[in-house]
Amino acid sequence: MSSACSVPVIAIDGPSGSGKGTIARMMASELGFHFLDSGALYRILALAAQRRGIALDDEQALAAVSGELDIRFPADSASEQVLLDGEDVSRDIRSEEAGAGASRVAALPGVRQALLERQRAFRQPPGLVADGRDMGTVVFPDAGVKIFLTASSEERARRRYNQLKEKGLPADYDEILADIRARDERDSSRSVAPLKPARDAVVVDTTELDIEATAQRVREIIKNRLNP
Ligand code: C5P
Repeated sequence: MSSACSVPVIAIDGPSGSGKGTIARMMASELGFHFLDSGALYRILALAAQRRGIALDDEQALAAVSGELDIRFPADSASEQVLLDGEDVSRDIRSEEAGAGASRVAALPGVRQALLERQRAFRQPPGLVADGRDMGTVVFPDAGVKIFLTASSEERARRRYNQLKEKGLPADYDEILADIRARDERDSSRSVAPLKPARDAVVVDTTELDIEATAQRVREIIKNRLNP
């Protein structure tokens, strides 16, 4: 067993809008753990491809670029800041377009493979909270805590709509709902690392829960699993 394997990992997976990003950041900050926003890696890759004129289905070129990108997340896990080649791209990668592009590049096995070690390198003492779709199934299958957050597609679209409005970004509910459904379908049906709960994950449906109620439930799960 390599020493990295003794570093605890809390894997929080689920579809977009399930609240996993907010909850994962909150847990990382409360526990003083590192934080991996794996979706941001796919979003950054889609953005970089767009800027470099690489087609979103050019698997070979995208896999090569994934290895070269200079991506940095500032140390503070509560911050949503992301740097690409030193430039703050936090806002650009949160657009619907970058999200849709991310879901396309994420369906390519060569891209997922190229990003695998990069994600595992975030596992550093005292621990890691990893947010994504395949944290508990593929990237950290030995994670001590696996949580799968979900919610109805309508509720997730409503949350996403409010989030975009708050950030002053353009938002259309029907478009967001259609996009969420298309993305769920693509993420769940792809051949590599499809979106599904790990066999040993605890599934939490957040449709009827607000962030604080979700956080409370997740804290209990973490407490029970980390100190059984
Ligand atoms: O979580 P976020 O919405 O930022 O992720 C953007 C897209 O990246 C997702 O729709 C999904 O297709 C992809 N993704 C993935 N595996 C992850 C994280 C994100 O396939 N671990």
